[in-house]
Amino acid sequence: MAKQKVQVGIDLGTANILVYIAKHGIVFNEPSVVAYDRQTKRCIACGHSAKLMMGKEHDKIKVVRPLEGGVVADLDATRSMLQYIFSRLDKLDIDYAGSTILLCCPSEVTVVERAALIQLAYDMGVRDVFIEQEVKAGAIGAGIDIYSTTGSMIVDIGGGSSDIGVLACGDLVVWESIRVAGNYFDNEISKHIKQNYNLLIGDRTAERVKFELATLAPIAAGMETEMRVSGRHLSYGLPSTITVKQGEIREIMLRAFERIKHTILAILEKTPPELSADILRDGIVVNGGGACIPGIKEYFEAELGLPCRISDNPLTSIVEGTKYLLKNRGNYLVKPQD
Ligand SMILES: Nc1ncnc2c1ncn2[C@@H]1O[C@H](COP(=O)(O)OP(=O)(O)OP(=O)(O)O)[C@@H](O)[C@H]1O
Ligand SMILES: [Mg+2]
Repeated sequence: MAKQKVQVGIDLGTANILVYIAKHGIVFNEPSVVAYDRQTKRCIACGHSAKLMMGKEHDKIKVVRPLEGGVVADLDATRSMLQYIFSRLDKLDIDYAGSTILLCCPSEVTVVERAALIQLAYDMGVRDVFIEQEVKAGAIGAGIDIYSTTGSMIVDIGGGSSDIGVLACGDLVVWESIRVAGNYFDNEISKHIKQNYNLLIGDRTAERVKFELATLAPIAAGMETEMRVSGRHLSYGLPSTITVKQGEIREIMLRAFERIKHTILAILEKTPPELSADILRDGIVVNGGGACIPGIKEYFEAELGLPCRISDNPLTSIVEGTKYLLKNRGNYLVKPQD
């Protein structure tokens, strides 16, 4: 049987990498983490299995997040990750030379980084490659008609960055990105536990605390939850466990969201008035893993005075949006059909 020419959309996220293949759907959705053997430089694990090794490596293993901070921090590791993913798709028997790849990246990715990413796809044998901003793909995936003349605002709170964009007539009009997102929340949680409890915790533990306790909603009297957290005590050097209360984590989240809110307000100030009027009526849509934080809708509505909708599929919107962008190659004039 002849090899398949396919259309591939990739969401190269700092925290998660997702791959969509036309007619096959989402074929990969795992953490963007790679584990290497330091000596042979061979990739020994990728995705979920590599994430389990984080913070538990020995001398021979190096675990990296190739897309740290919403930019391509480690190109070799990104290449390894893509090679690993496509090696798992062997059964599709892809004709790479005849296929198309769409890579979705944060808006801050530089021209040099874009060129490097295109080169990665070339290295895989794909000749037809194009790049789109992830906010745009995410907006389509979240059900916004970006091709209409009505303006919309999307806030994507990912792992490395929060990307905020105003769209109309098929493309971004104004946008900005700040590095206050999932990883930043985790770091702030680690810092808080270190400063207040003298306890050093790992990145995965900090993320678990966030999953369990992070909220922006007010905590009713008697409803505060807590969590036992283990790590290494800084003074004694021994394993130790403390109890963290939800209110402490909520304070951290409120401080971080203050910064996201100010970036949204700065974008609103730069937004052309006709589009401001649309956003005032239709409000903002929140995407990305950060959209799962409880109380976020009410928080933005109260703080911004705008209606807020949480995407139905905050973690997969971007890759779902690639399905449409692959059809029109990102052309703002052509509205792709289902
Ligand atoms: N229920 C949840 N509560 C809080 N945070 C969550 C939840 N689910 C996921 N996250 C966080 O969302 C982040 C991942 O979101 P997402 O997959 O949108 O990021 P990404 O696209 O990989 O990153 P970026 O777009 O910045 O490159 C992680 O930091 C994760 O901890
Ligand atoms: Mg993302």
